[in-house]
Amino acid sequence: MKPYILVIGSSNTDMVVKAAHLPVPGETILGGTFLMNAGGKGANQAVAAARLGGEVIFVAKVGDDIFGKQAVEGFKQEGIDTTYILTDLVNPSGVALITVDDHGENCIVVASGANAALMPSDLRKIEQTIKNAGLILMQLEIPIETVEYVTSLAAENGVKVILNPAPACQLPDELLGKIAILTPNETEAEILSGIKITDNESAKKAALLLADKGIETVIITLGANGALVFSNDEYLWVKSPVVTAVDTTAAGDVFNGALATALAEGQTMTEAVAFACSAAALSVTKMGAQASAPFRRQI
Ligand code: RIB
Repeated sequence: MKPYILVIGSSNTDMVVKAAHLPVPGETILGGTFLMNAGGKGANQAVAAARLGGEVIFVAKVGDDIFGKQAVEGFKQEGIDTTYILTDLVNPSGVALITVDDHGENCIVVASGANAALMPSDLRKIEQTIKNAGLILMQLEIPIETVEYVTSLAAENGVKVILNPAPACQLPDELLGKIAILTPNETEAEILSGIKITDNESAKKAALLLADKGIETVIITLGANGALVFSNDEYLWVKSPVVTAVDTTAAGDVFNGALATALAEGQTMTEAVAFACSAAALSVTKMGAQASAPFRRQI
């Protein structure tokens, strides 16, 4: 049996409007096409990993509503194990309002709903599933205490955690020290390290500073410029294939899902990051979050 990837995180329904440019405060703009699409950083990463061949168990909390039911149905169709997706009888399912401009850039506001109610107490009954995972993949759209609880349990049992620190926020050193692989983008790396990333040298400094907190591997994703990997005291730059971006939403999620799949199947770190860069590049050529996650044959 393949080692399974345990993804613990958010599930949202994305309401997306295309517009020529992103609005500034106080501005109303007339946009174009509207798209309703399955999203949420956790769910996007779970779907990306599954489409690329990973054995995925997804742990999340959705509301007792049509969005939650549709999301779970979608995960089942992707072959994801949904046994541990909980239904919150109080809070609604997560929703994200997204605007995408002509360059594929976006701005996102999330109403977390049930995602914010996924607490450590919900996970106590899946301790064994956490301890037996091949890899654990998390993000920051669920409560930080839940991320801390899972990370501690995983670290005590020798299970590696990939943390995608998105959306960006500062994190305690105690948590960072137990993370095996941290995957910030430039903004997130800046917030976590306090180093403004303006060029290769500043990116290297930020990666080193984060690794010094006890993280085995730091991967700073650099959008079209690929990724910088710092592991075993060595830097490695991985290029991304050149594509025309239509929508960058969930590119980071696809990167993380792909990285987890590649590592779980035994690829080296260098191979896994190149695989993840290719998957993320493909995703930006399509609109939507989960809708843009590529399948293995496309890589
Ligand atoms: O990373 C993209 C995702 O962020 C969207 O799908 C949205 O739901 C938010 O969680």
